[in-house]
Order: sequence, then structure tokens, then C-alpha cells
Amino acid sequence: MGIDYRKEIERLKDALPVTVVGHYYQRDEVFEMADIIGDSLELARRCKVDENPWVVFCGVGFMGQSVKVIAPKKRVLMPKVACCAMARMIDGSYYDETVEIIEKAGVSREDILPITYINSDVSVKAKVGKMGGMVCTSSNAVKIIEKGLLSGKKILFVPDRCLGQNVANMMGLKSCIVGEEGSDIKGSDILCFNGFCSVHQLFSVDDVNFYRQKYPDIKIAVHPECDPKVVEVSDFVGSTSQLIKYVNELDIEQKVAVGTEYNLVNRMRKRNTYVLSSTKPECPTMNETTLKDLYLSLKSIEDEAPINEIFVDDETVYYARLALERMLEVK
Ligand code: 13P
Ligand code: SF4
Repeated sequence: MGIDYRKEIERLKDALPVTVVGHYYQRDEVFEMADIIGDSLELARRCKVDENPWVVFCGVGFMGQSVKVIAPKKRVLMPKVACCAMARMIDGSYYDETVEIIEKAGVSREDILPITYINSDVSVKAKVGKMGGMVCTSSNAVKIIEKGLLSGKKILFVPDRCLGQNVANMMGLKSCIVGEEGSDIKGSDILCFNGFCSVHQLFSVDDVNFYRQKYPDIKIAVHPECDPKVVEVSDFVGSTSQLIKYVNELDIEQKVAVGTEYNLVNRMRKRNTYVLSSTKPECPTMNETTLKDLYLSLKSIEDEAPINEIFVDDETVYYARLALERMLEVK
């Protein structure tokens, strides 16, 4: 007879000093096993104060790395070290090149304050921390950029151009994409790296129009990784937790189409909730983690042969931590 993964996972969780963490985009069967759930900011905050020495993180690579940085003594395992496609769009050398392009456009390094979306590799967070910058997530990007602007500097925002542009639009600021032909670097407040999330790019203004025509009183709620044109015609924009709260607070009869990852939308109240796309918006990397992977990860702790442990060197931890802690200080 095969292994009953659910039963075994429960047994291992009871037997071991471990916390299982799951992001909202995880498959249902994995998500249901998590002790801590939340958006990227909540997961970072909660892991920092969690008392168990072991964390098994069901999510994508940058999330496990962030736990290791803010709580370096913890042993962090990931059932799958799947790399967020957006985080993969920038590394240390692309970051340096971007700073050089800005300098060539006439803005000195001292006049740049970098902010990296948490969806980035730890090496990028370290570069940002070293330059005096901060991390942000989708739920606190406005607050963090407001704090950054107090420095009087221009904000270099990496890697998600959409989040950077959306925040600029909300705050009535000017943004541009670094490296794009004709981009007005000197005249802009927020200088965005040209990265994006392919899952959230699936949602289009046509999708919004389709639903509005079909159900004239429908609400449209989207994640800020969506294109600014989509955000502009939506009723609500927010992080995964903020989207859940918004949808839950609507009258049950109120129709709502949600623009974010499929697993989360599918888990929301079923009636009158629609996926804002005709193509299933699944995040391939978030979907890599299976129940079996979670079981194997926990079992490897019991067997004292941990698999997929996250390691970050001391210097990278030091600088990336500066950037993460500057974010966590902001309430
Ligand atoms: P949240 O911070 O909103 O959970 O988003 C994480 C993410 O990867 C969205 O694509
Ligand atoms: Fe990365 Fe997009 Fe997947 Fe979020 S949905 S983890 S940004 S690829």
C-alpha cells in the first residue's frame, strides 16, 4: 500500500520542532497542511517571530531565502526550490548595469534610493541594502516608496515595472522604464527595472471589458503586478491578503472577477467569484510543490539528512537583512 502523505505529514509535524509555511498560491492539498499562511509580508513577519528552529517553506525560492536572512539561525527547507520567474529577471550584474544607465543619464549614484520588491534574489536585496535601500511587498509598496522619497532621492524600483508604475500612478508621481528608448530618467521620480510577472500579464483590459459587459455591476479586483492599464479600469488593487479581505467583505450576491493566481481565486468564495482571464492563470513555479515533496522534506528532518536546505553566505545575509529590516520597521 502507498504512503498516506496527509497522515504522515501530520505525524511528522507533531513529532518535529518544525513550522510549515504556505503561500496562498500553493496547490490546495499543500496549502491545507500549512501552519502559517499569508501574503509575502505576513509570512516574513510571522516567520521572524516563530519559535520552531525548523521551517519548511512551501512557496518560491525568494521566500525561503528571506526567512533565512531575517532569522539566520533557523534551518530553512523548501520542498521545491522553485524560482519565481520575475525574480529570475534580475541578478546582481543586471542591477549594476541599471544603476550605470541611470548614472549615464545624469543622475548620480548618491541621488538614487533603491527599493526591491521582495520577489527578487537575495543577492539583489544585498545590493539594495548596501546602497541604503529597502525591500517592499505588494501590500506595503506605497508606504515604503513614501518613506524612500523622504530622502529626496529618485527611487530605483526593481524588478517589477508594473508594481513600480502602479504605485507611481496612485501617488501622482512620474515613472519611467530604465533602458527603454526615450525614457525620461532625469524627469521621473520612480525609475523602474523592466521586469514583470508573466502570470499577471495574462489579465487584459479586454478581460475587464468582457466581464463589465456581461455583468454591468461586477467588481474587478486585481493584484498590483497587473499591467497599469488593467489596474486603471479595476475597482480594487491589493496584495493576496488584501484581495481576500476585499472579496470576503463583499455582499455574497455581489459578482467579482479577480485578477491573480488561479489557486487563490479558486479557493475564494465560489459563488459569484470569477477568474479574470480565459486562460488559466497558474503560476508554474508555485505549482511545482506537491504533497509528496512536502512529506519528503519533513521526513528528511526526521532522518537527519535535510534536503533542499537554504543557505546564504554571511555577507549577503548582512546586507540583505539591512534592506529587509528597513521594511519590517515600517508599520
Ligand atoms: P503577495 O505578496 O501579494 O502574496 O504576492 C506574492 C506574489 O508572488 C504575487 O505574484
Ligand atoms: Fe513570481 Fe508571478 Fe509566480 Fe508571483 S505569480 S511567484 S510574481 S511568477
